[in-house]
Amino acid sequence: MRRESSAATKAAITAVGSYVPNEVLTNQDLEQMVETNNEWIQSRTGIMERRIAKNPLHATGYLATKAAMNLLEKNDIDPLTIDLVLVATITPDFHVSSTAPYVASQIGAKNAFAFDLQAACSGFLYGMTTAAAFINSNQYKRVLLIGADKMSSIVDYTDRTTCIIFGDGAGAVLFEPSDNEFGYEDAVHGSDGIGKQYLNIKDGGSMHPISAATFEEKNQFVRQEGRTVFKYAVQHMSESALTLMNKHNLTTQDIQYVLPHQANQRIINATADRIGIEKEKVLVNIEKYGNTTAATLPLLLSDFESTFKKGDKLIFTAFGGGFTWGAAYLTWNYNYQNNKS
Ligand code: UT7
Repeated sequence: MRRESSAATKAAITAVGSYVPNEVLTNQDLEQMVETNNEWIQSRTGIMERRIAKNPLHATGYLATKAAMNLLEKNDIDPLTIDLVLVATITPDFHVSSTAPYVASQIGAKNAFAFDLQAACSGFLYGMTTAAAFINSNQYKRVLLIGADKMSSIVDYTDRTTCIIFGDGAGAVLFEPSDNEFGYEDAVHGSDGIGKQYLNIKDGGSMHPISAATFEEKNQFVRQEGRTVFKYAVQHMSESALTLMNKHNLTTQDIQYVLPHQANQRIINATADRIGIEKEKVLVNIEKYGNTTAATLPLLLSDFESTFKKGDKLIFTAFGGGFTWGAAYLTWNYNYQNNKS
């Protein structure tokens, strides 16, 4: 739980950027690869297509760099003014060698320190809290938070239960001290180690290092028990959002938008129903990108940036491997038109 301090500086998101690869993998393409069909995928997940970084050199660090460059260029920000670069990901370029320092170097953030944060699909949400804490404590002024995943690097394209869900992408936001009363307000977080049996990559970690058997059994790929993960996701995403709303005396009328992790349209719908919020207030882009893990929330921010108005109350909610989950409450800091030069 975040410590309150009377001297705390409020942190705000002041800029947004994103990048998705050009290559599109449609449901029709998947019909040619595994035993599935467009109707099943759309009705069970809401996904129509996803982006795949086919170039092997375009790993997560590349996607993250492109998203960060998009943010910097759009907002005319000097990378030398950035203090910290955080990359939330479960698909780092290398297991040893954090991806964030590479991204910081690529974008010219020479004065920044950088590290990765791993909380699966909750990575960006946890990253928001981490970024805000560095600003709240007055330790740093500019924190670049990136959610990026090249999920195609850990997906088995012969497994129809996972290959239809995931896609590649990256989104970036800049956290700074707020220059008005709006910004990051609060968050709740939770986790439960029970998740490791339901959603995991079995081999390649210190528990089961890579061996010849790894490849024979295809244990280097992500697997999940979909139905179980589904139930936990709905329960924890809705409960976290409601806990936060109750804590701040927020009704669904007070909230302009809910930004849920994009795992499955049915998870999003069930979460929205439990929160009791109208569908029009729930932001969705899963049909275009699928589940991009740490990138879903910043991709939503990027797609809907021009929709937000200064002072809008936003609730983020996410659930991911571990299990990890949480919700964040943020009041939007700027009007898109006025903010851009
Ligand atoms: O981001 C956080 C982590 N991940 C998630 O939050 C994902 C959570 N889970 C899900 O989104 C859903 O559970 C899935 C999309 C993975 C699966 O949907 P479901 O409605 O839970 O399907 P199911 O696993 O219960 O399978 C229903 C049927 C099965 O056939 P039988 O046993 O009823 O004959 C599956 O074999 O659908 C079959 N099936 C498919 N059929 C066509 C499973 N995958 C496919 C497929 N195409 N791609």
